[in-house]
Amino acid sequence: MPPVATANAASDAVNIETPTPYLNTMPSSNFSWQITLAEKVVAITGANRGIGLGIAEVCLANSAKVVYSLDMMEPAEDFEGLQKRYPNFRYIQTDVTSEESVQKAIDQVVQETGRIDGLVANAGMTKHQPALNFDRPELEKLFNLNVFGAYFCAQIVARKFIELGIKGSIVMTSSMTSYRPNRAAPSAPYGATKAAVRNMCHTLAMEWSKHGIRVNSISPGFVRTAMTYYVEKSPDWDLKMQYYGGMPRLADPRELGGAYVYLLSDGSSYTTGIDIPIAGIVGAW
Ligand SMILES: NC(=O)c1ccc[n+]([C@@H]2O[C@H](COP(=O)([O-])OP(=O)(O)OC[C@H]3O[C@@H](n4cnc5c(N)ncnc54)[C@H](O)[C@@H]3O)[C@@H](O)[C@H]2O)c1
Repeated sequence: MPPVATANAASDAVNIETPTPYLNTMPSSNFSWQITLAEKVVAITGANRGIGLGIAEVCLANSAKVVYSLDMMEPAEDFEGLQKRYPNFRYIQTDVTSEESVQKAIDQVVQETGRIDGLVANAGMTKHQPALNFDRPELEKLFNLNVFGAYFCAQIVARKFIELGIKGSIVMTSSMTSYRPNRAAPSAPYGATKAAVRNMCHTLAMEWSKHGIRVNSISPGFVRTAMTYYVEKSPDWDLKMQYYGGMPRLADPRELGGAYVYLLSDGSSYTTGIDIPIAGIVGAW
């Protein structure tokens, strides 16, 4: 006899191998077609500064109930500035390279708010140097944070969505370097980590759609953060920009936020397994 399908989402947590009926993801008859994060609790890894902080601001500006930064670094001025404007912006000290730390953070979010609706796996790092010079520990560090960190954040929050019967949304921060080289500052291993991130979203989206969980990624081009401090210092930057065409500037991290808000909102109920490049035509490089 085939295994009996579970009757509700909560029982999926007991044995997620048991075949389940697909959760109904069809918008209800009284669905609000406004793109909003009202009532949503969202956790963003690495949101104490840079792109994560920019995403947090745009989520909060679009009515998110609570936004958590899961970050390793102690909150500094940038974080505190945003928190002054939005007291519903919170911080949980988290190391995304430790499954135990991520599990504790997700449990705390649910303990404090009773739910979690979205997770942005955004924490990441790069290292620029010629491919001939990379050694194994350097590669392991990049893959451990960018790939393993994103994978386990997604797995841990997906288990929580299933346990709570929440049709959650996961968004990962990939990069334009997942498509092609960054000619301004090459890093072969970094591009490989970001290609892995973008790629895993397709399969996670396929596997978890039966639980009503959506998984997508966003690929930024050049964004003004600590990671790109070198870009505008380059003496031939203006010339490069003219040569490449497109928008001759770096992005403000908040210019990415609308896409994250869309993917985290119920407005994107039929959007899963895609990548959105946001690069002011840097994709043409
Ligand atoms: N800046 C860009 O131009 C650009 C372009 C494409 C993709 N990205 C990607 O965007 C993401 C954010 O980059 P950014 O430019 O804002 O970088 P950033 O260095 O400014 O911020 C990264 C944040 O992640 C946190 N972090 C690092 N390791 C962590 C860990 N183990 N656990 C928890 N938090 C940790 C840091 O403390 C920091 O707050 C990264 O995944 C990066 O690869 C950046």
